Amino acid sequence: MIFITGDTHGGIDIKKFSSSNFPEGRSLTKDDYVIVCGDFGCIWDGSREQAWLLNWYKDKPWTTLFVDGNHENFDMLYDFPVEEWNGGKTHRINGSVLHLMRGQIFSLAGLKFFTFGGAMSTDKIFRQEHVSWWSQEIPSREEEAAAIFNLTKHNFAIDYIVTHTAPTAIVEFLNRFDRLRDPTSGMLDKFVPKLQFKHWYFGHFHTSQRINDQFTCLYNEIIRLV
Ligand SMILES: [Fe+2]
Repeated sequence: MIFITGDTHGGIDIKKFSSSNFPEGRSLTKDDYVIVCGDFGCIWDGSREQAWLLNWYKDKPWTTLFVDGNHENFDMLYDFPVEEWNGGKTHRINGSVLHLMRGQIFSLAGLKFFTFGGAMSTDKIFRQEHVSWWSQEIPSREEEAAAIFNLTKHNFAIDYIVTHTAPTAIVEFLNRFDRLRDPTSGMLDKFVPKLQFKHWYFGHFHTSQRINDQFTCLYNEIIRLV
């Protein structure tokens, strides 16, 4: 089984995985996946709390996968070993937590997942670089090129797209004009005209809202895909 949900922000929003809110979780195995649409937040400061949270995920019956959001420590995240996994590149955080890198395509349960994390922090002027803000929150040219290269190999035909932010038209639909000038959305806009996909899931906006037949913003809702 594969489930998908929105931002978790370290320990702040993990109550969504409580047994009462996510009873399905109890019967899952490590071959089942729960995908987080960015702002995973458990790679942050190397604290004891962070270690506790990563062990908490490790002890869950399922495997947790996440794309990065804008609230991750990218210096720390990009130091984890890169591992090929189900067709794409990951950072392996521990035995059952994997970061799905940008511009990758993964084959899970016979379905293709395209991943492209990242987003611009609108509050970055209040944050300190390499302490609470990282410039790598915006995807690099290399990551954008990897996306185009991998999508081309698959003729831009994907089952599910998992990102943190969304293309510009969707950000406008959500009336989040404060988040419009995000270069990440600009990159996603370039992919959109060519993409064929079943559904696109994203987080970042802290609301659970089905936009239309192809786009859903996730926060605390946990959706079963297969
Ligand atoms: Fe968030």
